[in-house]
Amino acid sequence: MYAGIDIGTSAVKVVCADGMRILAAASVDLDTSSPKPGWSEQHPDIWWQATCDALRQLGGKINLSDVKAIGLSGQMHGAVLLDKDQRPIRPAILWNDSRATSACDQLHEAMPDIGQIAGVLPLPGFTAPKIMWLKQNEPENYNRISSILLPKDYVGLRLHGELATDTSDAAGTLWLDQAERAWSDTVAAATGVNTSWLPHVVDGHDIVGTITPQSAADTGFRVGVPIVAGGGDAATGAVSLGAAEPGRGFISLGTSGQLFVAGRAYKPNPERYVHAFAHTLPDRWYQMAAMLNGARPISWIGGQLDLPAAEVVALAETVNTDRVPIFLPYLTGERSPHGDPHIRACFFGLEDATTRAEICRSVVEAVAFCFADAAESFGDTLSNLSELAAIGGGSRSDLLLSLIATVTEKSIIRSNGADSGPAMGSAKLAACGDGALGIADLGVQPPKKAAFEPEAMPALFERLHKFRSLYQTIRTEV
Ligand code: XUL
Repeated sequence: MYAGIDIGTSAVKVVCADGMRILAAASVDLDTSSPKPGWSEQHPDIWWQATCDALRQLGGKINLSDVKAIGLSGQMHGAVLLDKDQRPIRPAILWNDSRATSACDQLHEAMPDIGQIAGVLPLPGFTAPKIMWLKQNEPENYNRISSILLPKDYVGLRLHGELATDTSDAAGTLWLDQAERAWSDTVAAATGVNTSWLPHVVDGHDIVGTITPQSAADTGFRVGVPIVAGGGDAATGAVSLGAAEPGRGFISLGTSGQLFVAGRAYKPNPERYVHAFAHTLPDRWYQMAAMLNGARPISWIGGQLDLPAAEVVALAETVNTDRVPIFLPYLTGERSPHGDPHIRACFFGLEDATTRAEICRSVVEAVAFCFADAAESFGDTLSNLSELAAIGGGSRSDLLLSLIATVTEKSIIRSNGADSGPAMGSAKLAACGDGALGIADLGVQPPKKAAFEPEAMPALFERLHKFRSLYQTIRTEV
């Protein structure tokens, strides 16, 4: 049996799996703090605490001493800054933080070809510009940096004591030369970073270390159990769905959203903010549209209206009229396809007669519209893909999957274990590191539970058209 640990943004999720099937799962919620507008932070120690708590819950359901290897997954791009004693210098700056906007402009100006090396143009969510911001704004913290890690790798450090990452998480920093799958000295130097601060880069199924006596006492795993590097949540989500070979793609509907297509070649397309990143598996890359707001607007409006997310979707199902307002869901700005950290959310077309159900419908439609924009930004790359699998909490909604099928003109597939995708993907990488699965097995797709097909909905396309015009109209105003 293998364990997967996913350090998400809203929760740490842990699973035990027999390689292909989830046997038990547990999760512990996380809070994010936003001390200033556009800031998004979590202290790395809350990830470790939540991991130990989630494993304690899991240990109540299944015997953790039977675990043969462990894999890690996590939110990408976060800057975890460690001092010489390997202690966090400050809270981690997360993927949806937009403070480093001007650092991105400076970096792009200094390195106009950075998109070809790093696979995407600089945006404030990525790790590298955050260090430029730190140097300019918190020099006392910058001067103490001894190591920089990604979120899951901090939990790895607490489990095995090594400073290591995998290619897919390294890919999201902007410091990786994607074609070479190695740190770029040029990008590091341009951002004030010494490559000796960066962790060792390995493939996701490579064993990085073993459970120490201290981490065994904290977690319930046996001393000496191997831990593989794992991957960023996009890549581990892909592994959970068998998206390892060309022509395999998926969408993720979590706190963030992604449209992901696997490939065997590095194909940068930086102008549309499609990310071309190294996969966690050897000799594979992927293209990804990354949406900062994913399915989060559904729980956000639920929070405002005091409704659980499932109720928001249930209310949205009750209306489909031309009085549905248009919602731009950019609560934290947008990455793909706009590359616009300044844009913010808004409702348009509210009337005195607008109902809660219509507001909920507009929010659910907006999530689908972001996927329409994402699909458009891929150009021809998607034409050979007949279907896209779906993972993440939002994939529980039939309405949302069928709206996405309609606006992207693809079949959308719900598979087994869709809720725990990245944790499951990291457990599969652990099974691969232990020799129970081969790389080819990681391309096997899980059984399909339901398929959603495009429908004829001309009124929805009219609202999509308004959604796109509204973005163009307000983007210069914010
Ligand atoms: C991907 C991205 C998100 C985060 C959080 O580029 O920003 O997937 O990893 O889920």
